[in-house]
Amino acid sequence: MIVCVCHRVSDREIARHAHAGMSFDEIQFELGVATQCGRCETCARDVVDKCCSKGTTAAIHNEVATQPVQLATPILESKAWHSSQPLQAA
Ligand code: FES
Repeated sequence: MIVCVCHRVSDREIARHAHAGMSFDEIQFELGVATQCGRCETCARDVVDKCCSKGTTAAIHNEVATQPVQLATPILESKAWHSSQPLQAA
């Protein structure tokens, strides 16, 4: 199922990254999910949370989540970060 229409990101792709130990912020940076209109953020976070609620991945997720993710300058300067819908902090 496609979760992020803007970037054509599926729940499987998000889950694969989450199972690899990536936090939501890292997945967001890697795949671009929830970086344009932001309407997919809740669903994408739900997919990550479900994957991270099992086994050791949750511990990895918690350790990484405390570190800020440095966004590339082109992403910070793009119009995607200036949408009318505010993005929630992780
Ligand atoms: S649907 Fe994901 S950013 Fe628009």
